[in-house]
Amino acid sequence: MIDRLGRNIDYLRVSVTDRCDLRCIYCMPEEGVPPKCHDEILRFADIERICRQAARLGIRKIKITGGEPLVRRRVEELIRTLKAIPGIEQVTMTTNGVLLADKLQTLIDAGLDAVTVSLDTLDRSRFSRITRRDELANVERSIRAVMEDGRLPLKINCVPMTEQDPADLAAVAAFAKEHPVHVRFIEMMPIGLGKDCGFLSEEQLIERLEPFTGILVPVQEQLGNGPAHYYRADGYTGRIGFISAVSHKFCSGCNRIRLTADGFLKSCLQFETGEDLRPALASGSEELLAEAIEKAIRKKPAGHHFDERDAAGAEHRIMSQIGG
Ligand code: GTP
Ligand code: 5AD
Ligand code: SF4
Repeated sequence: MIDRLGRNIDYLRVSVTDRCDLRCIYCMPEEGVPPKCHDEILRFADIERICRQAARLGIRKIKITGGEPLVRRRVEELIRTLKAIPGIEQVTMTTNGVLLADKLQTLIDAGLDAVTVSLDTLDRSRFSRITRRDELANVERSIRAVMEDGRLPLKINCVPMTEQDPADLAAVAAFAKEHPVHVRFIEMMPIGLGKDCGFLSEEQLIERLEPFTGILVPVQEQLGNGPAHYYRADGYTGRIGFISAVSHKFCSGCNRIRLTADGFLKSCLQFETGEDLRPALASGSEELLAEAIEKAIRKKPAGHHFDERDAAGAEHRIMSQIGG
C-alpha cells in the first residue's frame, strides 16, 4: 500500500514476544518487563490473520522480532505458516543469537530466508556488562553455526557505545573479512532506555574503524529490506553497513509498519500512532481487520523527531516491546 506521502509500505516487523533471555542496558531493565498474561499475547492464528490481510494490502516481507523471538515456543511453526501466505516473499528474523545454533535446522526447514544476529562486542566481560548475561560464547557458537552451514544469509547488528574500544568494534567488523557476512553498525536511538545512552554517529564510527579496515568506500548495493547503507573495505568479503537513523534520517524512504506482541500495529518506531488490532481480531471480520491495518498505514507520521527530547505522542514502550 502507498501511504499519504507516497511511501510503499511493503515490510512488516512482527514482534512475537516482549520477553528476552538477555537484558541489554539500552533495551530492557535489569528486572525484565512485567510478564504479560497469556491472553494478552497474540496467538499464532491471529498473527497469521493479520499477515494475510497485510499481504493483501501489499506487505511482501516480514521480519520476526521480539524481545527475543527464539524464546517464543514453536516460532518455527509461525514462520512456516507465514511463508505460505500468498504475496509474502520473504520471512527473516533478528535474534540475539543465544538459542540460534540449537534452532538453526528447524528454522531452515521452516523456510526462514535470512537471519540477523545482534552482537555489540567480542569482549566477554563487556558483553556481560551490556547484556547482563554471560552468553557471548553461545552467540559466537550460533554465528559460527550459521556461517558453517552456509544456507542462511547472515548479518550482524552492532549498537556501539561511546566509550567502546575501537579495536573491539573492528573485531566485530572483522566477521565481514573472512565471510560473506554483512556487519551493520546502528546509531543508538533515543527510544526507551536508549535515551540515556550516549551515541556514536556514523562519521565517528568510520573514523574509529578505518585504522583497522582501511578506507571504507560507499557502495550502492541494496542488501536486504531495511534502511542500512553499505561500504566496501579492501580484502573484506562482506560489507560494512550503517543504520544511521539519527545522523542520516531515512524516514522519507520508510517502507515499514510494526506489530507488537499484544496486537498493536505501530505506524512509526518513535510514535504511539497506530491501531489496536484486537477489536478487529475479536470481531472475526477479515474486512474490519484489513480496514484497521489500512487505517494504521494512513496515519503513518512523516518521520521521527529524535532531536526533541519529549516529542508529543512519543512512544512509551521500551525497545524490547517494539522489536527494533
Ligand atoms: P534487513 O536489512 O532486511 O535485515 O532489515 P533491517 O535492517 O530492517 O532489520 P533489523 O531487524 O536488523 O533492524 C536493524 C536496526 O534498524 C534495528 O535497530 C532497528 O531498530 C533499526 N530500524 C529498522 N527499521 C527502522 C526504522 O524504520 N526507523 C528507524 N529509526 N530504525 C529502524
Ligand atoms: N537504538 C538502536 N538500536 C537498538 N536496538 C535495540 N535498542 C536500540 C536502540 N535504542 C537494536 C538491537 C537489535 C535490533 C533489533 O535493535 O541491538 O540489533
Ligand atoms: Fe534482548 Fe535484543 Fe533487547 Fe538485548 S536488544 S535485551 S537481546 S531484545
